[in-house]
Amino acid sequence: MLPAESALALELTRTALKAISIPDAVQPALQRLLEHTAAVGAAYFQLKDDQMYHARTAAGELPEGEAMQAILMHGLPSNLPLLQALQEATQPLFFPVTAEDPVATGFPQLGVQSLAAAPVRDAQGQLQGAFLMHTFQEHRWTVQEKQLFVAVSAMMSLVTVRFIVEEKLLDTREAALRALGLALEFKDGETRGHTERVTHMAVKLGTLFQLEAQDLEALRWGAYLHDVGKLGTPDHVLLKKGQLTAEEWATMQNHVLEGGRFADALGFLPQSSRQVVLAHHEKWNGTGYPVGLKGEDIPRFARIFAVCDVYDALISERPYKRAWSHQEAMQEIRFQSGKHFDPQVVDALGQLMALTAEDVTTMAPQMHQGLN
Ligand code: C2E
Ligand code: SIN
Ligand code: SIN
Ligand code: FE
Ligand code: FE
Repeated sequence: MLPAESALALELTRTALKAISIPDAVQPALQRLLEHTAAVGAAYFQLKDDQMYHARTAAGELPEGEAMQAILMHGLPSNLPLLQALQEATQPLFFPVTAEDPVATGFPQLGVQSLAAAPVRDAQGQLQGAFLMHTFQEHRWTVQEKQLFVAVSAMMSLVTVRFIVEEKLLDTREAALRALGLALEFKDGETRGHTERVTHMAVKLGTLFQLEAQDLEALRWGAYLHDVGKLGTPDHVLLKKGQLTAEEWATMQNHVLEGGRFADALGFLPQSSRQVVLAHHEKWNGTGYPVGLKGEDIPRFARIFAVCDVYDALISERPYKRAWSHQEAMQEIRFQSGKHFDPQVVDALGQLMALTAEDVTTMAPQMHQGLN
């Protein structure tokens, strides 16, 4: 390898090790490949559900047309000859003329005339992803280009594998946290769907407040778990039709402290998620529980979440109350602005209700699954 190439690969690896997501780590490498080779476009694909390799990030010019749109939406199927070949390959594969090689089947139709492809494997040697770069004209890859691609893809593959392991762990956590939240709905039939709805709404509100991806994740986890302490609330209290006695009310309020203890037991849960669980019944004017925190002393995510929780409780039927209409619920929430709720959050909810679902989706920051 030439010194220049090793230096570049090393620099990219350093950048990648500091990155917080795969697209973050890989994007600079794809850019450098475009600068230093004849390739006009490059992309990284990653195995998702044993069937499809999804586009995680791309740079430069990509093929156009419906077939390419389908690839960006659904990924490349694992039975594509190129991916099958990469499963066996120990080195990157180079195709100066895709039309002349059955391994590159499918690419000429996209307008990709020449192609380079490198495998990304996990510790068990299983193919987990692929780096591709292409030109729209026939191109005999030079020795330097090949060396650069080999070096960069080898380094990137090491970095990527680290992230893949991390992402799988996160997916498992996500599923476990969601399941915990949902477990409550088996106990408390009336709140079916509540967890999903308030989580969804809280994330949309958080997006409106321009929270970063990591904070949105913490808010989402807090929302899943907010009432997990109700698992410990006796049924005769939780399911009581009508007013609670003072003693029952004390038992009921205890669900936030129970939930807090539960959150503590999950060592990996961010502090701000735990605060949603503990402080979702605090009120802006200081009359809430368990502490009676006031105003901005109430953790911000708990303030955001509380409005979502109450909106959904109001429009739902409960053992102790009928379902309210959307208008009635919004009227009550506006009335409680500055009393129960943070006025800024109430305003944001008003804005959110005025937006269509589509507006909110396009505002969302780049998700780690998406193309950037
Ligand atoms: P939840 O049913 O999920 O209600 C969450 C929050 O929504 C309530 O928190 C309250 O802030 C708001 N909310 C619900 N219904 C109404 C309503 O009719 N009017 C207004 N203004 N706000 C409403 P809160 O009060 O801290 O209650 C926490 C949990 O305690 C409730 O969760 C519910 O599980 C239970 N709970 C509260 N009041 C009663 C009751 O009278 N009977 C029974 N059986 N349970 C109750
Ligand atoms: C594709 O043709 O699927 C994209 C290939 C590439 O980005 O190199
Ligand atoms: C935040 O507001 O950014 C973190 C949540 C908190 O206030 O504790
Ligand atoms: Fe609660
Ligand atoms: Fe709730």
